[in-house]
Amino acid sequence: MNNADLSGRVAAVSGGAGHLCAVISQALDEAGVRVTVLDLAGEKKARQAGLPGSVGYLRCDVTRKEDWIRCRQKILKAHGRIDLLINGAGANAPTPFLKISRQEVDRVMGVNFLGTLLGCQVFGETMVRQRRGSIINFTSVSAGPPLSKAFVYSAAKSGVLNLTQNLAREWAPRNVRVNALKPGFFPTAWSMKNFIDDDRKAKILNHTPAGRFGKPEELVGAVLWLASDASSFVTGSVVTVDGGFTAMTL
Ligand SMILES: NC(=O)c1ccc[n+]([C@@H]2O[C@H](COP(=O)([O-])OP(=O)(O)OC[C@H]3O[C@@H](n4cnc5c(N)ncnc54)[C@H](O)[C@@H]3O)[C@@H](O)[C@H]2O)c1
Repeated sequence: MNNADLSGRVAAVSGGAGHLCAVISQALDEAGVRVTVLDLAGEKKARQAGLPGSVGYLRCDVTRKEDWIRCRQKILKAHGRIDLLINGAGANAPTPFLKISRQEVDRVMGVNFLGTLLGCQVFGETMVRQRRGSIINFTSVSAGPPLSKAFVYSAAKSGVLNLTQNLAREWAPRNVRVNALKPGFFPTAWSMKNFIDDDRKAKILNHTPAGRFGKPEELVGAVLWLASDASSFVTGSVVTVDGGFTAMTL
């Protein structure tokens, strides 16, 4: 029995125009999933990120509940149901702690935590009604123990973990699974410019048994597994893909 088959499933991927979730969206598309990307970046940027024409695009600010509701309506109208939600939209800032503004707290907490909560609330409501669904939230190795230079982000990703477990508990009886993916370091052009200078890069790689950064395609296997019935007894779990970063001290 191949219970890893995903063909014909319906998925929404927030942040799907980004470094990691564009690759994940393409992989789901190749697996026969009907994927819609939800992102603020605009369709042109999403296509430049490599999204094929077979992947749908809807503009969505994940911090606005009305955007989630509008996207849910469009996906349900087109496909009749929602099997998978990936909450991949994210934002970070390297501001020193004493200088962080209220506006920055709102933005970083908003995209990472509130955006995930609203996605779970709006799409999860449909899944609970369907009595079927899988949600994959993005946390990070910075969720704990926290990383330097990422104060609000680390707190937000820690909140995402807590929410993931809480919803897993809440919705397991309704056959809706909620899990988290915990990537290590998969640098983007932005993070290489704002977060990872040569010194930090050396520290990270010295602390990563694999001795290198991750490539976006190295998250695909975990996503396909969590999305499919191959993980039907897995909920409230955290799948770490970090080259061993969290497995070592010295
Ligand atoms: N890249 C890494 O090393 C890494 C490590 C751990 C966790 N993560 C997490 O993985 C996820 C994807 O990260 P990435 O590296 O692809 O980042 P990325 O910056 O390339 O992509 C993030 C996407 O989120 C979108 N976005 C930002 N604000 C939004 C909003 N308000 N509404 C809708 N979309 C919005 C952006 O337009 C972008 O397309 C994020 O949740 C991130 O925190 C990344």
